[in-house]
Amino acid sequence: MELGAMRMEYRGAEEAFEERHLASRDPVAQFGAWLAEALRCPAVGEANAMCLATCSRDGKPSARMVLLKGFGQDGFRFFTNRQSRKGRELDSNPFASLVFYWEPLNRQVRIEGSVRRLSEEESEQYFHSRPRSSQIGAVASRQSTVIPDREYLMKRNAELEEKYRDVPVPKPEDWGGYILQPDVVEFWQGQTSRLHDRIVFRRLRDGAEPPGPMTRRGEGEWVFERLAP
Ligand SMILES: Cc1cc2nc3c(=O)[nH]c(=O)nc-3n(C[C@H](O)[C@H](O)[C@H](O)COP(=O)(O)O)c2cc1C
Repeated sequence: MELGAMRMEYRGAEEAFEERHLASRDPVAQFGAWLAEALRCPAVGEANAMCLATCSRDGKPSARMVLLKGFGQDGFRFFTNRQSRKGRELDSNPFASLVFYWEPLNRQVRIEGSVRRLSEEESEQYFHSRPRSSQIGAVASRQSTVIPDREYLMKRNAELEEKYRDVPVPKPEDWGGYILQPDVVEFWQGQTSRLHDRIVFRRLRDGAEPPGPMTRRGEGEWVFERLAP
């Protein structure tokens, strides 16, 4: 689903988030409903900004913000430099998590799953859809490497502006997309009472914790439960 299509008018205030308020028993569709509300809420700056946590093979985590650039039943997409710290961590350990926080709506979504690279075609296509200055910037910056100073970056950017003045900017080999396929999606709705609502969906794969007496059936392989806040 493309994010641009989701800009709608903001409707406003929230109430207790009960099972009957779920837009869907499918967490991806439910995420879409919350993202749509965040996108049409004027007080939310970048509704598609999310914290991406990755982990090295030896168990050391790191986190940073990235932008969600699409999502669907196949997962959540983002783009970056594959030689960056996150890229190298994802190559050696494909498990990651995403967190969205939409402060004016008092909502958080946590997503966990495994990540794989998007195809070269999809990466190329997205790269060339970006503003030219962003394309040049991606070529100029070998993300997460040490550089001498800001001047170095400015100079390199200016040289590349000149070099690619009349020709398309080639996508750097190491730049591309990833998709996180969710296994767990938690919807958190804050309440002024501090008795916050937490509804967590998990995919029932082989080896997943079996449904308990308080587990509800979701769509497809999904089940969901309410957690204490
Ligand atoms: C709101 C926001 C959005 C960002 N979006 C991206 C993004 O989509 N892709 C990206 O590579 N870096 C993005 N960044 C920069 C990253 O947070 C980070 O500095 C960079 O990717 C290097 O991270 P790493 O060294 O852990 O790999 C964004 C930063 C902010 C604050």
